[in-house]
Amino acid sequence: MPGLPAARRTVLKGAALAGAAGLGAAACSTESKLGHAKNPTPTAPVALGAASEVPVGGAKLYREARLVVSCPAKGEYKAFSAQCTHGGCVLTKIEGTEGHCPCHGSRFDTTTGEVIEGPATVPLPAVPVTAEGGNLVAGPDA
Ligand code: FES
Repeated sequence: MPGLPAARRTVLKGAALAGAAGLGAAACSTESKLGHAKNPTPTAPVALGAASEVPVGGAKLYREARLVVSCPAKGEYKAFSAQCTHGGCVLTKIEGTEGHCPCHGSRFDTTTGEVIEGPATVPLPAVPVTAEGGNLVAGPDA
């Protein structure tokens, strides 16, 4: 921008960055508009399929159901909301027992729900889960 004083150029550059940050926030609130933030846990039982799909010592993400199930020991299952407690984005990746939020980088322990790394500060809400007949069911009456 020839002709503008250096200070003016800096202000404009800062405004452009603020605009980009604003877009990021809008993406998160779009997730929230999908109902994620209002209802982070299922209101009715959700069938998740074969319990054997959850690796012992690991976890499996059920992104459509917005749930993550971990299996700390054979036959033992723990389920949590997969909706990040920071801004409502749904986790997209599991590495071992760590759940990763794509929006701002929060990481959660899928065996406890606890935050490993922020900006989230609140654990993932626990969801009751059972494995009857080898199939997982998660939700309020599970
Ligand atoms: S929504 Fe911000 S880290 Fe998950």
